[in-house]
Amino acid sequence: MENKYENLFSEIEKKILVLIIQAKIMDDLTDIRNKYLSKKGEFSALMNKIREADDKKAFGEAYNFARRKIETALSEKLAEFQKAALNEKLHAESIDITLPGKNYNVGVMNPFYKVKREIEDIFVGMGYTVENGPEVDTDKYVFELLNIPKDHPARDMQDTLYIDDNLLLRSHTSSVQAHVMEHANGKPIKIICPGKTFRRDDDDMTHSHQFAQVEGLVIDKNINLGNLKATLELFAKKMFSKDSKIRFRSSYFPFTEPSVEVDVSCFNCKGKGCSVCKGSGWIEILGAGMVHPNVLKMSGYDPEVYSGYAFGIGIERVAMLRYGIDDIRRFYQSDVRFIEEFNKKDED
Ligand code: PHE
Repeated sequence: MENKYENLFSEIEKKILVLIIQAKIMDDLTDIRNKYLSKKGEFSALMNKIREADDKKAFGEAYNFARRKIETALSEKLAEFQKAALNEKLHAESIDITLPGKNYNVGVMNPFYKVKREIEDIFVGMGYTVENGPEVDTDKYVFELLNIPKDHPARDMQDTLYIDDNLLLRSHTSSVQAHVMEHANGKPIKIICPGKTFRRDDDDMTHSHQFAQVEGLVIDKNINLGNLKATLELFAKKMFSKDSKIRFRSSYFPFTEPSVEVDVSCFNCKGKGCSVCKGSGWIEILGAGMVHPNVLKMSGYDPEVYSGYAFGIGIERVAMLRYGIDDIRRFYQSDVRFIEEFNKKDED
């Protein structure tokens, strides 16, 4: 049906539609909306003329009809802009799958830590728990409770780095034995303690002022030297080779009696004699022994009822043998070429 008011709006409607078509960016649409369609906008203002109109209904219809057309054109143009913006974004973010990939350097583990974890795994598999103790400790735990009283010549075996008269960097992980026994209240113990140790030593191919040990301690009723030997033999077989053998040589440590040095049959020549074992067929790997009755007594165990064994494994020493590393200092120099080399060996 004809509406006599249509012409009233057609001119401005056309003008706005052209402006919408010509809009270049989204802001242009906002400007158009503000200028014409806001409360005081030029188009909205035409509504005031309704007062003069004799057919107000027809006037209203014509106004709304024109306004809807403009609104529709505006939202269509807006959608067009949004689509273009999205396309542009997608294009900018698209990945060229033909480009060469980025090279991520994944870190590899220092052979020291590999061996440390392997030793831990072997003993955890035998029912040991892993304990830690302080690296800076008092004379009481590093020496006294291990049957090394003040002025005892055995202190010379481990020339220690002192902080003051009573405080020192632990010279062995045996100090952790004393801590664990103190807290066990006379109960059985089966622990290993891996950790750093320090001695005032020359730094050369086989010595370092800092190195690491894994201490082992078992205390219970009826523990004997045979248990120690079986345990260390199993360790040697798992760590070095299925047919590894071990032997005990008598030795001296103040905190064990009897004390032994433990050799493992050379895994390189199977005992025939080679450069790795310096012709002897055997390689020394650790110190061990039955816990000295004085040590048991000092920590509240009755040596008539309880017995135990202890051992101390040098981690670097095992890693050097295992991987044929000739210089202990390589473990601490963080030379990536060295570290990567020993990971390659494991992959072979
Ligand atoms: N603590 C000794 C050392 O550092 C090793 C050891 C540990 C020996 C336990 C016997 C028993 O040389």
